[in-house]
Amino acid sequence: MSVQAITLTIDGRTVAVPKGTTIYHAAKLAGIEIPIFCYHDRMPPLGACRMCLVKVEKMGRLQTSCTLEAGEGMVVSTVAPEVKLGQEAILEYLLVNHPLDCPICDKGGECPLQDQTFRWGPGRSRYVEVKRDFAKPISLGPVLVLDRERCILCWRCVRFGEIIAGDDALKGFERGFATEVNTPFTLPVQSKFIGNTIAICPVGALTAKSYRFISRPWDNTAVPSVCTLCGVGCAMYLDVRGNTITRVRAREAPAVNDIWLCDLGFFGQSYVGREDRLRRPLVRRNGALVETTWDDALDVVARQLRAAGNRAGCIGGGRGTNEDAYTLGRFFRTVVGTNHIDHRVDLAPQTASALVPWGMTSSIADLAAADVIVLAGCDVTEEYPVLWLRMKQAIDRGAIIIAITPKRLEIERWIAHQLVHRYGVGSEVFAALIGGRTGRRRLGGTPGGVAEEALEAASAALMAAARPVVLIGRLALDAPDGVAAVDALVEICRRIGAPLNVMRGKGNEFGAAAAGVLPTCGPGGRPLDEIRADLEAAWGEPVARERGMNVPEMLEAAARGSLSLLYVVGADLATSLPERRRWTDARTGLSFLVVQDAFLTETAQAADVVLPALVVAEKSGTVSNIEGRVQRVEAAVEGPGDARADWEIVGLLSERLGRPIAYSAWEEIFEEMRRLIPDLEIGERVPPTGVRGSGSEVRPAPTDTGHRTSDTETVQDYPLTLIVGDVLFDRGAMGARSPAIADLAGEPWALLHPDDAARAGVAAGDVVVVTSKAASLALRARVSDAVMRGDVFIPRGFDGTPVNLLTDAGGDTGTVVRVNAFAPVTGGTVEP
Ligand code: SF4
Ligand code: SF4
Ligand code: FES
Repeated sequence: MSVQAITLTIDGRTVAVPKGTTIYHAAKLAGIEIPIFCYHDRMPPLGACRMCLVKVEKMGRLQTSCTLEAGEGMVVSTVAPEVKLGQEAILEYLLVNHPLDCPICDKGGECPLQDQTFRWGPGRSRYVEVKRDFAKPISLGPVLVLDRERCILCWRCVRFGEIIAGDDALKGFERGFATEVNTPFTLPVQSKFIGNTIAICPVGALTAKSYRFISRPWDNTAVPSVCTLCGVGCAMYLDVRGNTITRVRAREAPAVNDIWLCDLGFFGQSYVGREDRLRRPLVRRNGALVETTWDDALDVVARQLRAAGNRAGCIGGGRGTNEDAYTLGRFFRTVVGTNHIDHRVDLAPQTASALVPWGMTSSIADLAAADVIVLAGCDVTEEYPVLWLRMKQAIDRGAIIIAITPKRLEIERWIAHQLVHRYGVGSEVFAALIGGRTGRRRLGGTPGGVAEEALEAASAALMAAARPVVLIGRLALDAPDGVAAVDALVEICRRIGAPLNVMRGKGNEFGAAAAGVLPTCGPGGRPLDEIRADLEAAWGEPVARERGMNVPEMLEAAARGSLSLLYVVGADLATSLPERRRWTDARTGLSFLVVQDAFLTETAQAADVVLPALVVAEKSGTVSNIEGRVQRVEAAVEGPGDARADWEIVGLLSERLGRPIAYSAWEEIFEEMRRLIPDLEIGERVPPTGVRGSGSEVRPAPTDTGHRTSDTETVQDYPLTLIVGDVLFDRGAMGARSPAIADLAGEPWALLHPDDAARAGVAAGDVVVVTSKAASLALRARVSDAVMRGDVFIPRGFDGTPVNLLTDAGGDTGTVVRVNAFAPVTGGTVEP
């Protein structure tokens, strides 16, 4: 459909634009700059600040160009004397109430109010009265501060929350002179995206606690990078001064994050410069880890690897670059001679996560174009937050969200059909959506405890979808009925013609998978047997032939003593494995443990050799996100001490083992990868393909879960089912080392249904003791009907209170627990 063209004149220039274009945009297209404050091109115009005044022939008053649509034959002036007077008046008016903070304002040097006053302002101030004075700054939460008198009431921040994030985090209060922005009820701001308001505030009214008085913008160097804290892979700038990252800003990437980041991206990168980074290699001598030289550490590791051969395994590789992961794969498959290599560090045995390739087959942009999006066990704002902003765009265009989860999502008010079900029976609900039955037991006559009418309404919406997208997340994949859930969703997708997107994995795990860090697949996700000849030709070495073990299998083999050496790269298995016992058993059985990491994690503390590694911000190369898009990262800062890139470390080891893998730079590795993965191009996608085999093709039979009714003692002693899930802000290895994130995460908590809380005599905010067959944890109670009666949700990622201690007893049917009010006994210990 052709769009009607409009021709108008701006400052004497003839401009042709599509119908519907505003004067502001028409001028921009013609290369004519009009100053703005309130207008932002990701939001509809508001016309609040009147900075964008223009004169239009035959229109009596000056017009706001951001709100006025171009008309055929319009004659517009942006430079008429009346316009100049109007612009000066607006600026003079704004400056009446604006403090003279410029010398100490974080925005100074990149402030539109400064710049526009300089260019369009009156050039002198007539104001001699005393300026208004507020107590300042006021804290709006763990990361945000407000200097109220700097605010020019453009409403960008408020509208961001209303229109872009949908969280209504900030609001305008009072009227007239007293108008100010604040949070509802002046509580700490509730948002996962508030950093964006700092970025779009046209003055220094909203600033970040972490950046206040830290640097002037001209002292920063902006280094393009990519956030690897979740799987979205948002493009960002790391602003660097000296060798310190002073702040993080979004970098425009239309296909990925557009111009936004989440607050984990904005405020979660400070772990990079932490004092407790590993600087030198460590070896265990007389029971203690002591510093040593690289030569010594590498000699020890090389000797052990040579002795272990195919009794060695490697876990990790998803926190580095693609080049790190690829080199790791090549090293283990050829030099060490083992296929026991897997990046899926938090894989539990026998779960659906082991059976499906991780990542999105849809593109991120597809989410904004969808008309129905199914969130099946996917807590999108906690796991892949910036994807929510795409879904919000789809909702604004009329899309319907169907969420089927064991915990109500915080975006509930945007969800047309929120079906909360008992944990472990989600597959019943999925199957019922298309009228199917898994033959499994129903709870209370309805699948998973979901009301029949709600199910029917969701089903009708799904069947009417023209552009559906289905996302399955970890709350479904790792549930006891995960395999049945996948089967049901595959069938749904087949029926409605939707792609199934497996929302599983963090950081650069998608790059690690594509680079071949999987037991049965090589680079490009091709089965090892199929790609073996290509690999041997490219690498000039035989590739190990025996079947590779996945993470749970390696751990079981280690516990049995049949895997003697484990080489862990960028992973804290002690805290990230779903069941802690599997790690302790494995460690006991291992003869030798090597950990290559940035911090002395709990796993590293148990190692025989620890090798200090660089993090992504310190390396150049490429990373891949959840949709398989390959993006460049540049080294922003130098790493601490003697820390090295993963690919360099294994290169040095290969020399010691007499079969050098010698690369001079990341580009050389990337070129080699491109010869093996034809789709690999910077900026393009290598989506998940084929079944990235687990090494274990066991598909567990669906178990009757929801509750352990067959075991009377269990039901009485442990009446609740444990749900473990991700939260965006946690206190894991990186979160705990980023003060703002640790603050946002707060204390570890457990979420209980009000009936269960009442039964336990517990109120919100109380300390409770959650006890499984394996252990007890003391946590802060949250009480809400976001979970069903009988379920209790605890987030993972709080390393000081690791939920994987509880799950030891869960086995393949989930974990059951009881909750009691905390009863301190003499001495202050917890008595479960
Ligand atoms: Fe605009 Fe900034 Fe004031 Fe918000 S705080 S209304 S973005 S000037
Ligand atoms: Fe980083 Fe993920 Fe947030 Fe993007 S959505 S900024 S990748 S944590
Ligand atoms: Fe046009 Fe504010 S930018 S009215």
